Amino acid sequence: MYDPNIALIVAIFFTQVVKIVANNKLFTGGTIISYDESTKLPKVIRDGALLIQDDRIHEIFDLAPSNGTFPHDTEVIDCKNKIITPGFIDTHRHGWQTVFKTTGSNTTLSDYFSRYSSSVAQPLFTPEDVYISQKVGILEALNAGTTTILDHAHHTWTREHAVAGYNASIDSGARVYFAYTFQNVTGFTIQDQLKHWRELDAGKTSNLTSLVMSYDDFTANPYGKDTQDLVELAKEAEIEVFTSHHVAGPWNFGNAPEDLHNAGILNTSTAVVLGHATFITPYSASLLRATNQHISITPESEMHYGMLHPTAHLIADQASIGTDTPFAFSTDVLTQTRLWLQSTRQTMYSNSLDRWQIPNSNPVSVAQAFLLATRNGGLALGRKDLGVITKGAKADLLVWDGRSPSLLGWADPIAAVILHASIGDIDHVLVDGGFVKRDKKLLSGGYDDDVARFLDAARRIQQKLRETPLVPQVGMYVGGFPYGEQYQVDVQRGEGNGYGPSYV
Ligand SMILES: *[C@@H]1O[C@H](CO)[C@@H](O)[C@H](O)[C@H]1NC(C)=O
Ligand SMILES: *[C@@H]1O[C@H](CO)[C@@H](O)[C@H](O)[C@H]1NC(C)=O
Ligand SMILES: *[C@@H]1O[C@H](CO)[C@@H](O)[C@H](O)[C@H]1NC(C)=O
Ligand SMILES: *[C@@H]1O[C@H](CO)[C@@H](O)[C@H](O)[C@H]1NC(C)=O
Ligand SMILES: *[C@@H]1O[C@H](CO)[C@@H](O)[C@H](O)[C@H]1NC(C)=O
Ligand SMILES: *[C@@H]1O[C@H](CO)[C@@H](O)[C@H](O)[C@H]1NC(C)=O
Ligand SMILES: [Zn+2]
Repeated sequence: MYDPNIALIVAIFFTQVVKIVANNKLFTGGTIISYDESTKLPKVIRDGALLIQDDRIHEIFDLAPSNGTFPHDTEVIDCKNKIITPGFIDTHRHGWQTVFKTTGSNTTLSDYFSRYSSSVAQPLFTPEDVYISQKVGILEALNAGTTTILDHAHHTWTREHAVAGYNASIDSGARVYFAYTFQNVTGFTIQDQLKHWRELDAGKTSNLTSLVMSYDDFTANPYGKDTQDLVELAKEAEIEVFTSHHVAGPWNFGNAPEDLHNAGILNTSTAVVLGHATFITPYSASLLRATNQHISITPESEMHYGMLHPTAHLIADQASIGTDTPFAFSTDVLTQTRLWLQSTRQTMYSNSLDRWQIPNSNPVSVAQAFLLATRNGGLALGRKDLGVITKGAKADLLVWDGRSPSLLGWADPIAAVILHASIGDIDHVLVDGGFVKRDKKLLSGGYDDDVARFLDAARRIQQKLRETPLVPQVGMYVGGFPYGEQYQVDVQRGEGNGYGPSYV
């Protein structure tokens, strides 16, 4: 229904407030999943409209303004039958590994360390390989509706390798927190890396890619000069985000919140994100709450590699969603969120059924999952203006086709997206107010050229993997615990179990 009074107000608003110089876009007629600061819940607006001015959301209308009530230079995007959501936020990713695609389908975390990790992969990559793997990896994320990425960039083996991934992030068109990793590398010391980081920081050219920091040796080297110097630099440069891998339990990888706190990086104005934080303890969790810092749950990675995350549901209030290594499994945030939702339901239901009691309600809502994938990601990065559709927030947006066969018949747009949609239902993706995907097509210039370069790198690198035997998993794992026999599932009657080879 069309209300003339609203149209009049809208007309006055447009003529008085919207200046012709601005780059205006009006998304009209769609269902908008906005965020209500007062209830702290998503707010669904049906048949509303969204006015974008340059890089920000300028106004949200409960009723779509009628034709002719806005300046003629406003681009109107008809969103009838569409659902509009914030872009997804991925708070843990390693884009440079994209080129390994499908070669890790049967791996454990221990295989990962011996074959694909930053400590062993350097000989496989030229700087150009890092560039194209990172760039195409980020295009994959944009295509899937991920508009912001915290990239834990541990391909910093030389100045050239480091810059290649940084440049690729800038060139990708996504909002990227490029977390330059400080790590022990032969011939390029952490002191060299600190110098390099300062140079890159001084020469900043991008508004969308932020140069930030990552470090995984707080536990291995708690009081050394390298650790102290990089914490000092993080404070001095007032970096926006700092990230580390925390993987506990028998994996024993270290970097617990208390280690970062002792080093003086947890309780500053810098947002700290701990990748995984599996087997996190109550004490660590309380430190995160006290300092308002976050973890990044990467559901598929944690299941695939055997990191697990038995207590993730107990710290979901300080959590966000990440994807991890894009070569080994799906890395769209939508799939990760759905896996988190249903596996958390399974964990919580087990509480009841283990007591032989029937659960009297469903323990997690789709709205909670939606917030985890959007607003919580923004909060993890210290950005209240990311992951939400509110007045003044950044215009990082997704427009979903509400009439695709998977969604048809939806009443609840949040359930439609979180439980029924696939990334193939995303029509448009906007970052910072600009289209990066439109009518289901990425707008990245030179895509065909990128594909050719990427496939060339993939062919070479994957060939080298084939020629390198896997390290047998026997005796003691580096974390101090023994390898144990892993039983395999049997999907075939008879003698074989159907496991088969890996078809690489
Ligand atoms: C409004 O304009 C659009 C295109 O500019 C057109 O497709 C649509 O039919 C118009 N709606 C009305 C109600 O006139
Ligand atoms: C990275 O980008 C900068 C700025 O465009 C350019 O000067 C530099 O040569 C690039 N480096 C590499 C290794 O691509
Ligand atoms: C960054 O933003 C400023 C202010 O909006 C603008 O003047 C500048 O051109 C932008 N730089 C780039 C590289 O886009
Ligand atoms: C890195 O190397 C420095 C010396 O070069 C050493 O003090 C430190 O313990 C090493 N850190 C790790 C985590 O191996
Ligand atoms: C963090 O710092 C604030 C002061 O800036 C202090 O009040 C608070 O106790 C500190 N929290 C922890 C856990 O150390
Ligand atoms: C996994 O696949 C690789 C080939 O990529 C193979 O060498 C390895 O034996 C496989 N692992 C298992 C447990 O079958
Ligand atoms: Zn990781």
